[in-house]
Amino acid sequence: MVSETPRVSSTVPVLKLGKHRPRYPLLQGGMGVGISGFRLAGHVARHGAVGTIASVGLSHNSPYYTEKKMSYFDSNEIVIKEALSKAREIAGPDGVLAVNCMVALTDYDREVRAAAEGGANVIVSGAGLPLRLPEYTKDFPDVALVPIVSSAKAASLIARHWEKKHGRAPDGFVVETPASAGGHLGASTIEQVYDPALSLERAIPDVVRFVAEEMRADIPVIAAGGIWGRDDVERAFALGASGVQMGTRFACTVEGDASDRFKQAYVDAKESDVVLINSPAGLPGRAIKNPFVARYLEGNPDSGACFANCLTHCRYRKTGETFCIAVALVDAFNGDWEHGLFFCGDNVSKVDKVATVGEIIEELFGA
Ligand SMILES: Cc1cc2nc3c(=O)[nH]c(=O)nc-3n(C[C@H](O)[C@H](O)[C@H](O)COP(=O)(O)O)c2cc1C
Repeated sequence: MVSETPRVSSTVPVLKLGKHRPRYPLLQGGMGVGISGFRLAGHVARHGAVGTIASVGLSHNSPYYTEKKMSYFDSNEIVIKEALSKAREIAGPDGVLAVNCMVALTDYDREVRAAAEGGANVIVSGAGLPLRLPEYTKDFPDVALVPIVSSAKAASLIARHWEKKHGRAPDGFVVETPASAGGHLGASTIEQVYDPALSLERAIPDVVRFVAEEMRADIPVIAAGGIWGRDDVERAFALGASGVQMGTRFACTVEGDASDRFKQAYVDAKESDVVLINSPAGLPGRAIKNPFVARYLEGNPDSGACFANCLTHCRYRKTGETFCIAVALVDAFNGDWEHGLFFCGDNVSKVDKVATVGEIIEELFGA
């Protein structure tokens, strides 16, 4: 049973994600590996926004994998469900919880099924086209399905495929601009990252028009990448978005699941420390230039051995070039400044303290 949420104010849209209505039109973006676990997602949902657990690699430090020696993927399934139930305890019954599942992962289908079985309200899915997402969730009609795209072309490909093969439409689109977002970026090359066609100013109205005129649907378009304060939120709404997604700001919160050293790296980062790299997944990524990234950019990556086979297409596994991204992201999660890959959005230089989730939401939507 879904209760109708009153508008926060007449200028703030109500975000409808399938049957779910968060109090605020705000999603906390999924951040792997472990950066948005059950604690961050649970607290964001408790405060009235959508809290998102990133499903990728959640099992790396679980007893199923480290002590019971279950396979990485078998452990992941269990840990995703456990994370959802711990997040639900924090969020309460009305909190809206999402799981972010990346298409590029070897165990993508299993992660999606685990999220649906574990009680996710929403599944947000990008890093590739989530063409089979409805098939993996067909027994869970209450789970809202939200692809992440960077252009109307991608939104159209997904919507047409879903209509033809699965007879259903997405429940919304997150439109994420590679020009400022954190993590893996929706561009094929580093050069394409700043393509004006992929800016929020172009892509949001393009996707809004596609949804209204071609899909003839009433589903939300959610802006992501570089959203920081009220001005950014209002600009996104003026472009036609009905919600915003924020990653970087939420990573550096008291409730954030990363280590204190990870958060300190965000507080310390200056504008000139943010760089683009080619990730082993074949996509550009945005990260802090720490000793590890500096060595990689100079052509001397040092990499831990692949332990998880996590990506379907991994340049490191295939050719030995680049590095093992699972090792580097786990190192960052643990706060290993020398060896970790600290993904971040462009606005990481604005982070000057470890805030609370409540402070951020109040600043954005408070009276
Ligand atoms: C540390 C970090 C990890 C991320 N991991 C993922 C991920 O696992 N899956 C995903 O779809 N997006 C990921 N993202 C993107 C965020 O969910 C979010 O959409 C993006 O960061 C929004 O831009 P912002 O950081 O400027 O707010 C990540 C971002 C960061 C900063």
